[in-house]
Amino acid sequence: MGLRKTVEVVPRARRTLTSLRNLGYDLRHAVADIVDNSISAGATVVDITVHFAGRGSWIRISDNGRGMNAEELTEAFRYGSDREYSKTELGRFGFGLKAASTSQCRKVTVISRADTSGAALEGRELDVDHIAEVDNWEIFELAPDELPEGARSVLGDGPGTVVLWEDLDRVLQYQDPFGGWAKRQLIACAEDIDQHLAMVFHRFLAGEVADGELLRITVNGSRVEPWDPFCRAESGTSPLQEEDLEVRSRGGNGIVRLRPFVLPNQDGFSSSAAWKRASGPKNWNRQQGFYVYRADRMIQAGGWCRLRAVEEHTKLARVSLEFFPELDSAFGVNVAKASVTLPEELRVALGPLVSTWCGVANTAYRLKRRPTSSTPTRPRSSSTPTGRHISQTNPSQDAPDRVRGDAQPKGAASPALASGAPAATSQIVDPPASSARQALEAAAAQVGEDSALARIVTALRTMSPEVARDLGW
Ligand SMILES: Nc1ncnc2c1ncn2[C@@H]1O[C@H](COP(=O)(O)OP(=O)(O)OP(=O)(O)O)[C@@H](O)[C@H]1O
Ligand SMILES: [Mg+2]
Repeated sequence: MGLRKTVEVVPRARRTLTSLRNLGYDLRHAVADIVDNSISAGATVVDITVHFAGRGSWIRISDNGRGMNAEELTEAFRYGSDREYSKTELGRFGFGLKAASTSQCRKVTVISRADTSGAALEGRELDVDHIAEVDNWEIFELAPDELPEGARSVLGDGPGTVVLWEDLDRVLQYQDPFGGWAKRQLIACAEDIDQHLAMVFHRFLAGEVADGELLRITVNGSRVEPWDPFCRAESGTSPLQEEDLEVRSRGGNGIVRLRPFVLPNQDGFSSSAAWKRASGPKNWNRQQGFYVYRADRMIQAGGWCRLRAVEEHTKLARVSLEFFPELDSAFGVNVAKASVTLPEELRVALGPLVSTWCGVANTAYRLKRRPTSSTPTRPRSSSTPTGRHISQTNPSQDAPDRVRGDAQPKGAASPALASGAPAATSQIVDPPASSARQALEAAAAQVGEDSALARIVTALRTMSPEVARDLGW
């Protein structure tokens, strides 16, 4: 067969760029995507500035990574830029810098100095309005006197990269861009960015990444402190059995590591401030579930990936689920890297594990809350089990989080216990067994060993299920 005739069809710049501005980034995710690049470039310091000046407001992300030379910087502005990636690298698509930036602003300037002696400072600018006007993929090559002064001084004499976002049309949407509302909105954005980065990069910020250096991020001059969803510094946190599951799919093969934790109840935390901080950006109920890490960077926080609903009684369960980019296709990771879809075979394998973890979390939750024969149930808790320690806690702090519409009513047994595993409900427990269980729970609570008891109950369920059942666990 001879050569087939082809005709080149180049995408129209104006319309394509408009579509590429809408890939699903919000501000937090967009900033995190730029920080990914800094980490890949070996940066140990990333400084973020959110500056309010009405229509002239800007956001700047600077790093001390290895930087780029003239050629690399131009290539970095190409949609689908080309290079080799290592197994553990955060980048993959060659889109992030452009797509994340233009999802928030109309003008992106990047200045960079490569990590080679005598390297010059290079600058490029992508202007959405210019591309729309000429309908061509053109960027500006900045002459030395065109480099933005602030960005230049932030870089100093060393290697590194500065990304500057101006004309923040997607961030500042107030009619009066100089008004108080617009200013407050931008301040709130800075707080939101701080909280998000503290969560998604917590392993980098705490120096927990193998072969990685400690990363320091600042937002408007304040250092971002790592937020550990599993509260491993709290002595009451119980790590459960780790699992490695092998995923083999058309999207790739690889290992998924699961590390489940059951957090302590409020009175098991070292302080009420620690309990409050542990509740996380979305609050206790919605922060339960999976924390999905791709190459140590968190890309999804909380929720059970449709394996079960979030609910009050299982809110202490949090599970780290980790994979590497070899499984990107299997997990449906997209350019914004903001969520995943579990591969089907993994969903099947996770079902029973999730039930077990939630069973332990449910037990830990109820240990402090179950009414005892000596403590009558208070009227407000007619549908909520009230523990004997409730009088020691502040009722407003103790109140259950609001539960999503799809969650179970308060006080109902968790689906895990309702289906299969025995539920600790009074209807199915005869009085002597019930009092033995209550005595054990009371003793464990007395000596502050609720989470140890929760682990014993898990082991008991596996080793002697009849005994566990008889005791009402
Ligand atoms: N801060 C930086 N320091 C050094 N090089 C950078 C920096 N930011 C971007 N680059 C270079 O520009 C390239 C393009 O970045 P971009 O974020 O668009 O894509 P990517 O990181 O390769 O993939 P992804 O779309 O998954 O983010 C990077 O591969 C990297 O070589
Ligand atoms: Mg990138």
